Amino acid sequence: MAVQKVKEGIFSLRSNDWDRTLFDELIPLPDGTSYNAYVIMGKNKVTLVDTVDPRKTEELIQDIKALNLKKIDYIVSQHSEQDHSGSIPEILKMYPTAKVVTNKKGKEFLTELIKVPEDRFLVIDDMGTMDIGGKTLKFIFTPWVHWPETFSTYLAEDKILFTCDFFGAHIATNDLFVKDEGKVMEAAKRYYSEIMVPFRTSIRSNLQKIKDLDFEIIAPSHGCVYQNPKIIIDAYNDWSSENVKNIVVIPYLSMHGSIQKFVNHFIRKLQEKGIDARPFDVVTADIGNMAMALVDAATIVIASPTMLGGVHPKIAYAAYLTNLLRPKAKFASIIGSYDWGGREVDVLGKLLENLKVEMIQPVLIKGDGTEEDLKGIDDLAEQIYQKHRSINL
Ligand code: FEO
Repeated sequence: MAVQKVKEGIFSLRSNDWDRTLFDELIPLPDGTSYNAYVIMGKNKVTLVDTVDPRKTEELIQDIKALNLKKIDYIVSQHSEQDHSGSIPEILKMYPTAKVVTNKKGKEFLTELIKVPEDRFLVIDDMGTMDIGGKTLKFIFTPWVHWPETFSTYLAEDKILFTCDFFGAHIATNDLFVKDEGKVMEAAKRYYSEIMVPFRTSIRSNLQKIKDLDFEIIAPSHGCVYQNPKIIIDAYNDWSSENVKNIVVIPYLSMHGSIQKFVNHFIRKLQEKGIDARPFDVVTADIGNMAMALVDAATIVIASPTMLGGVHPKIAYAAYLTNLLRPKAKFASIIGSYDWGGREVDVLGKLLENLKVEMIQPVLIKGDGTEEDLKGIDDLAEQIYQKHRSINL
């Protein structure tokens, strides 16, 4: 899209990916996504901060041409993943004296992933600075947002913090700055929920590390620029904390209606107790919505029929994803149905072994169940209510 001015001498070169429907071939993108590069014009040196996904290289080149840049001295590569580094080889060809500025780990990854030649690197240290003429870049390592090499760049004179994935949002938009706060924060949570949930401890350390910096703008490499950084910092402090909310996430699947009936009954009982029940039919649900709900949930209850002696493969997928994400839930349980038996509880227990949860006795129901069986679900809802109360929810 057109080049947009962030501040004097600082430009956003954003490539919107309006039609992208999946990220990492996993998380649906209802609002598309975007890849942001930035140009910082110092009096002596011109710096490009990040590039864009390889499929958008032509757009980035058009933007660079629109700025009529006679030179680019530095390409600051804050994160080596290809949605930000993928255009670097083309930019290096356009500007044969440009250097790729990154840290030691970033150099290793960029060498392996996009074959940047050895002599094109300038390796920086944590908290190192670079004077580009009236503007000073300070490199602040903020690793394990989801990769180990990621860093942020603080532009002291303009009070801007460039953060790459950190604080990014899956949204394609013409708005340079955040206008529709609700929409952007939802898109930011979608991004956080897919890749950052397992790295809460690192995210908290990174938040501490930038806490005392004097910045007025956060410029991530996905989504909008924040002129009010507090909204995204507050959200990250909440999401990355170990505090949970009075929410039960229920990934479920029903082949013949029994599980659907049990889940409906369970939801009603939870609602009667003031608990926010979030069911996700794993066959049709946007798995990104489930991942977002897992950011906050106190409890996860998986509901599935037995299939071929185990669990339905689509439930196994939801359980496997939950296990990978390692959400901060404190409790978990299972609602299962069977006719001639099976190993559903064993299978799900193994699939969820990364979770640090207290398991509540599963409810297993034969066939379509009886009134008595539904009392087992009432009891599960009551136990969850008591557990939530025990942690002050
Ligand atoms: Fe937006 Fe980890 O890449």
